[in-house]
Amino acid sequence: MGFLLPPGISRRYAALGASTLVVIWLWVAFGRVYRLPEHISWNVNSNRPQYGQSSPVPDAFDLAPINSESIKSVCGDTRWNESLVFTCDESVGGIGNIRNSILNCVRYAISAGAGLVVPSIVLRNSSDISYIRTGVKTDMSFMFDTQHFIESLRLSCPSMPIYNSIPSIPNYEKAHNHIPLIPESIVGYVPKTGLSQPEEWRSTFYNWLLQYQDTPDTTRPTIVELGRSYLQYPIYSDGEGFALSFGGILKIRSDARRLATKTLTNLAETYSFDADLSAPFLPNSFFGVHLRTEKDAAEGWPAPDWVYSRYDTQSKLYLEQAPRSSPAVIYVASGDLNEVAKFASDAAARNMSVTTKFDHLSGQDLEDLTNLAWDQQALVDFLVMMKGADFAGIAHSSFAWNIALKRHQYAQKKDHLDGPQMLSDELSQMYGIPRGYPEYAACLWP
Ligand SMILES: *[C@@H]1O[C@H](CO)[C@@H](O)[C@H](O)[C@H]1NC(C)=O
Ligand SMILES: *[C@@H]1O[C@H](CO)[C@@H](O)[C@H](O)[C@H]1NC(C)=O
Ligand SMILES: *[C@@H]1O[C@H](CO)[C@@H](O)[C@H](O)[C@H]1NC(C)=O
Repeated sequence: MGFLLPPGISRRYAALGASTLVVIWLWVAFGRVYRLPEHISWNVNSNRPQYGQSSPVPDAFDLAPINSESIKSVCGDTRWNESLVFTCDESVGGIGNIRNSILNCVRYAISAGAGLVVPSIVLRNSSDISYIRTGVKTDMSFMFDTQHFIESLRLSCPSMPIYNSIPSIPNYEKAHNHIPLIPESIVGYVPKTGLSQPEEWRSTFYNWLLQYQDTPDTTRPTIVELGRSYLQYPIYSDGEGFALSFGGILKIRSDARRLATKTLTNLAETYSFDADLSAPFLPNSFFGVHLRTEKDAAEGWPAPDWVYSRYDTQSKLYLEQAPRSSPAVIYVASGDLNEVAKFASDAAARNMSVTTKFDHLSGQDLEDLTNLAWDQQALVDFLVMMKGADFAGIAHSSFAWNIALKRHQYAQKKDHLDGPQMLSDELSQMYGIPRGYPEYAACLWP
């Protein structure tokens, strides 16, 4: 993980005129030659766009807050309870895990008619990335645009009270003791495809709550701390409209969106493809692959049990898939540049070239990227991958499933779960035995 810098390093270095040092440092630290210097902005005060003739879009992922009729309708049918508030502070892992956990919290809050405190995120240990349950918490802006979240809920679920913090809950000083709850733990058996009767969760919940209320007093708020909820809520239970729009309440934070846009703009210029970034994906562009062989995955999914966690399996499958979209280049997402280097040499043997976000950002942008935490750097790939002509991932990665399921909305092939791979359509392939992990397609919000 040689490219990670301690988070405290100031982002203003280059602005102080240290560009030259940064460039030399990069050269040495990465042990490879970056395309210099035409993409380096030597004059940091210059307002001229760095790339291309036409002025590039600064942020292709800056979507407006969502105003969803299907969410409004579910929220409108809910009986809201002023005295009940949920917190959502136990979400762990990478973007795929955290995103789904937060969305589940919101969905359960709607079920109960509860208010919600703006969620927080548990930070991964930066020196041991396989250590995710650190108990160290930060606010949701670590990954997401908090204002967008609040505004989308205000528009699409106007009756739900949202609080910035626990102490800002009305009458907080009179609150009962906080009650921890893993939302699925009160319903007994949960099939792999998620709760079999999600519409009954509300009454089960209120019955469960009774044990904590000898003398119900609704002038005192009841605060329930939701535990981590991952792949157990059946997302299609409120209809497809709800399932497909709900994830829109979470928008990736702005610096990652801007870096993803720059990466795409530069990628398009370097490999001469048309980059209309307003399109959901770019035909005739690049093939995005998610090389999921980092330390945390290797430990979580031991290769002897699961052939798909092996580098050899992934690289062979991805390189076999590559020709189907005649890509200009293969764009690799991986948190481990040594693995990328291996893949680049295997690809070169087949006359295919490989690139990463590090090849397409320079100067202050590259510095901004390297100043981000590991899980934040992955947000850039998460966005870039959405726009590729084709995509490949491995079926034990929620990161890859999230991308493939989002892309599937634009695919012609609708029976994407019927093989030949675990998810197959013309825009993506998730490798694994069909129906092997039904929980992803059933319970991961696209
Ligand atoms: C509202 O929630 C409180 C707990 O905060 C509970 O005691 C009460 O029964 C709930 N009211 C309704 C109408 O569900
Ligand atoms: C992170 O992991 C390292 C190595 O295992 C350990 O020494 C350190 O205490 C951990 N830090 C936190 C905040 O958990
Ligand atoms: C790669 O390209 C070279 C030069 O164009 C050619 O000789 C070689 O056969 C190609 N290899 C493959 C695997 O296509």
